[in-house]
Amino acid sequence: MVLKHAFFFTALSAVLILSCASSAESDAALPAPGGRVNGAKIFSTYCTLCHGKDGKLGLSDAKDLSISQLSKDEMVAVVTNGRATMTPYKNVLSKAEIEAVVQHVRTLKTVE
Ligand code: HEC
Repeated sequence: MVLKHAFFFTALSAVLILSCASSAESDAALPAPGGRVNGAKIFSTYCTLCHGKDGKLGLSDAKDLSISQLSKDEMVAVVTNGRATMTPYKNVLSKAEIEAVVQHVRTLKTVE
């Protein structure tokens, strides 16, 4: 029981730290010059913390994105609604930003 609580508080503070970090850097998700959203930039702001620049970091059990077998639509769903310890991004990123960041994630893939 004690262990379970300790885990809960660790997870909670991680989420709090993450939400502070992302609001402080939300400028990075603004459209890049030319009006297009920059998926690579969004990825380095919101995702590298757990997934790493190359998608392989795997912090707090994050999946290795370079070997993900998910389709583009499935990735959009995970990023939008979250899964397990990954938080949802539907209130953080717009639909276009989620599309763009998933597009970037797909460039990290080393397998088909
Ligand atoms: C707090 C850490 C954390 C952050 C930040 C994070 N993720 Fe995740 N991500 C995870 C975890 C953990 C999983 C595995 C979830 C599971 O086991 O069901 C995951 C899974 C995924 C998957 C599914 C991969 C697969 O093959 O199943 C995708 C795609 C993904 N993340 C993309 C992103 C993107 C894009 C961002 C930034 C917008 C992001 N993640 C930010 C922790 C994180």
